[in-house]
This record gives sequence, structure tokens and C-alpha cells, in this order.
Amino acid sequence: MALTALLPQAERAFAADVRAGLMRSPQKELSSRYLYDTIGSGLFEVITALPEYGVTRAEERIVRSQAAEMVSRLPAHGLVAELGSGSGRKTRWLLEAIGRRHPVTYCPVDISPTALALCRHELANIPGVRVVGYERDYLDGLRQIVSERKGAMPLLVLFLGSTIGNFRRLAATRFMREVRALLQPSDAFLLGVDLIKPKYQLLAAYDDELGVTAAFNLNLLARINRELGGQFDLRRFAHEARFDTDTRSVDMHLRSLDDQQVSIPGADLVIRFERNETIWTESSHKYLAEEVAAMGEIAGFRCDGQWIDRIWPFADTLFGVG
Ligand code: TRP
Repeated sequence: MALTALLPQAERAFAADVRAGLMRSPQKELSSRYLYDTIGSGLFEVITALPEYGVTRAEERIVRSQAAEMVSRLPAHGLVAELGSGSGRKTRWLLEAIGRRHPVTYCPVDISPTALALCRHELANIPGVRVVGYERDYLDGLRQIVSERKGAMPLLVLFLGSTIGNFRRLAATRFMREVRALLQPSDAFLLGVDLIKPKYQLLAAYDDELGVTAAFNLNLLARINRELGGQFDLRRFAHEARFDTDTRSVDMHLRSLDDQQVSIPGADLVIRFERNETIWTESSHKYLAEEVAAMGEIAGFRCDGQWIDRIWPFADTLFGVG
């Protein structure tokens, strides 16, 4: 597949975000939404197969074994929206279970065209399932889907893979409240959340031995080089994962190994880094299963079921509306 160049408008937004993020003080940052270009999306797929990263396999075990049970608790959902579809591999089990009952339109929402393409490929040809992708931010996509729905057709919203962990705690509840505000009484929300587990396991999950996660994180700098003519020397930065016990999050950074200055002509920026200074790129918050249910209730949902994987603690929680 060719490397997709951003449209001019998206490229300007990328340049503006890079500029604002790297000029932040005291902590420079780059938004994790830019991790998922063609190369990043490919690397993330590899991450999901790494022995240290148990998240995806845990959720696959839950969804695969419980799909029929989950679907039996739902009204006849003619519409399924998935926020941050990724490759869609886990979703197959759910769609097959729903498609056996009645026809369904599946709407993956993802800002990454690569992720949408992978997902369309993975989920094509399931009997009774039509796929319509939305290349949008989560809430914009969901708003659009809701505005297009016919009559009272019940909608199931999927937010899997613990993407919600990438929000700070308060923002996660706010996000759930915004999802809730778009839903009607017969709708439902299935949320995947990675649970708290020993620190050594969490750190290994985000800093694997093979260096795939490091490459995934460093690709953000490589992308700036490719798309904005940046002059980052990738060998002078290192991936770092830390566990913060206050926020209960794994925080990902890129650490500058020297004092250095980097020019990024496409963002109209020349930026200095001190030795050991870092750029914060992503955080992955970990929860207790009870916290997830409580958060949903604060956001206005009713908890209709929760399934937990014991091998790699992970919870899928089903929320109803009303
Ligand atoms: N949503 C994933 C998670 O928090 C994303 C992720 C996995 C990630 N590994 C990463 C993001 C490394 C940045 C760097 O588990």
C-alpha cells in the first residue's frame, strides 16, 4: 500500500498541532492521534500480537466466548457503531452473532484511513452485515451516524481495546457522558477497559523486548520528518514507558539523548531539546472493574453486564440507556 499523504487541510492541522505541542512548557507533547498513519497502524497491529501486550488477546477471549450471551441481552440492533475500529478482528465475533439474528449495518469510525481499510477488508462478507466506514473523530462520527439513522432503529456503540484508557480519568467520564447524550432508550454501549495489574507487566506491555512499541512511538518523529520535512535524528531519541501510581497510568515519552536542536520547516519551527528532556506522547490509564461500572453510572448509563478476563485482567462492560 502506498503511504497516504495528508490532504492539505489535514496537513495544516498536523503542522499546527506539532508546533503547539513542541512549544509547550515545561512538558513538550505530541498528540497520540498522529501515531496511526500507514506505518503506525501496521506497527500497532504487530503490538497486538506481542507476548507482552495482553490487552487485545484478553478482549478477544471475552468477546469470542461471550458474543452470543452479550447479543442475547440486547434489543434487535440494526446499527452498530464502533469508535476506533482498529482492524476489527474482535468485532467479527459480535457481528456474526448479531447478523445471525437480523441484518445489521456496521459503521466503523476512525481517523485513520488505514485502520478503516483494514477493518473493511477483515469484516467484508459476513452474512447479514453491511459495512459503512466514517473517517472522523469519534464523537463527530457518532453524531453523524445518529443523525442518519432511520426512525427508532436501536444502535449499539462499541468502544473496545481500552482506547478510553488514553483519556485522563475525568475526560473519560466526560466522553461517556457525551456518548450517552447521543443515545436513545433502546441503545447500548459496550466498553472495553484494561484493568490494574502488577507494574512489571504493565511496563513490559508498553516497552516490549523486540522494540516494536519503541518503533511505534518513534514513528511519530519519523512521520514529522516525512510529512513536515522535519530533521529529527531518530537515533538521538529513545522510547520510554513509566508507571505513574497517582494517575494509575502508563505514560509514554520520547527522551532526547543529547542537547540538540531540530528544525521542522513544515511547522515553521526550530526547537531545542535538553539532554533527557522528553516529549509526552500517550498515557494509558488502568482501572478497577468496579470503577468502570461506577463511571458509566455517573455518565448516565445503567450497567447491564460485565465480563472479566482473569488471565490478563481486562473488562468488557455492557451499558444500557435509561
Ligand atoms: N490504546 C492502546 C493502549 O493504551 C494504545 C497503545 C498501545 C499505545 N501501546 C502503545 C500508545 C504505545 C502509545 C504507545 O493500550
